[in-house]
Amino acid sequence: MIDGGGGDLLVLIDACGADDLPEGGMRRLELGGVGVLLARVRGEFYAVSDRCGHEGARLSAGRLDGSVVTCPAHGSRFDLETGKAISGPAMADLPGLAGLSPRVRALVRKKAAEMARAPVADLRIFRVAVEGGRVLVEV
Ligand code: FES
Repeated sequence: MIDGGGGDLLVLIDACGADDLPEGGMRRLELGGVGVLLARVRGEFYAVSDRCGHEGARLSAGRLDGSVVTCPAHGSRFDLETGKAISGPAMADLPGLAGLSPRVRALVRKKAAEMARAPVADLRIFRVAVEGGRVLVEV
């Protein structure tokens, strides 16, 4: 435990070995009761909340391109370095729509339009330190 200033006590939790997460990889961890997405990008480690800022899907089940993670549910994208939402849900051009009935396609498109209007919150980010070959995350 460390003093975070302002009377806050911050806890650094041993998340994993630095060599346990390959370059360009990400994984979900439960740290102190919090779901955390830990990623390794260009040799740096990033930790953010593993709940999408749109409707809470697990981002760690999504896709990582550089420092940008794409939500597996509706395609919102977030920058792991800042936690900022880069783009919101993107359901308008789902490839599977062509095989659906016109009625179902219309329902899906209506839902997609509603999703696109939903607010997307930025992700909570956690400080990460690497000491003695171990990745420590502050939660
Ligand atoms: S839950 Fe992530 S984009 Fe909708």
